[in-house]
Amino acid sequence: MSEATVQENAGGASPARTEPHHMRNAVILWIVLSVLGIAVWLVVAQFILPTEITSDGGFDNTTIVVFTVLAIPVSMFVFVFVGYSLFAFRTRGRPTEDGLPMQPKAGLQIGWLGVTSILCLFLVIWGMFGLYQETSAASPDTMIVQVTGQQWLWTFYYPKYQVSSAGQVLELPVGVPVQFDVTSKDVLHGFAIQALGVRVDANPGQTTTTQVVIPTQIGDYQVVCVELCGLYHTFMWSAVKVVSQSDFDTWIAGLGGQTS
Ligand code: CUA
Repeated sequence: MSEATVQENAGGASPARTEPHHMRNAVILWIVLSVLGIAVWLVVAQFILPTEITSDGGFDNTTIVVFTVLAIPVSMFVFVFVGYSLFAFRTRGRPTEDGLPMQPKAGLQIGWLGVTSILCLFLVIWGMFGLYQETSAASPDTMIVQVTGQQWLWTFYYPKYQVSSAGQVLELPVGVPVQFDVTSKDVLHGFAIQALGVRVDANPGQTTTTQVVIPTQIGDYQVVCVELCGLYHTFMWSAVKVVSQSDFDTWIAGLGGQTS
């Protein structure tokens, strides 16, 4: 007689089942796959997350890593228990009548509610903290850049120096807080600088102000359009150059701006 065969007692009231420990097996499988999944994610994350050069200490990347780590056991819970049930409780060779009614277990219910509540609360608090960080007020030395999207290029205007950047290049001085006022001339575009954690819609007839960011590393980065905006959407990107203050002043002066 195989392990999975169901036996009924003569009494019938408490049927003895020589089932394998389904719950234990599924939980072990769940824990193993969750740990494996988290380990794989932590390795993969090193390669696929973008370089962040803002002063918030890579908060966006940390958020992605932490939320994914939390999501892996949750999704594995669903997949493992569905997968295990499909396999272990398939009807072939098993009785097809209804089983015993399930009795609610207070501990299980409280635990279930507790864990999901704590998880949700954690996500809310984390999100509010992130939002608070991003909405903190601009300091007086914040440089404004007015960004205009159109099919299919970006233009950048620096009100402080009253110049537009030539050749659709966005230059930023390192260490200086910057804020973007973003709009569009025609259709919806999406203004995104991955390295700075900036991403906002460019809406025609409306100006959207981004959070203040401080580029902390000299280097070459990119603005890309992240909203499908027509035939050449893919080509709607611009170079971002984070440079030293003196290089920036030279560049502004070259464009005819006053830097005093
Ligand atoms: Cu502009 Cu896509």
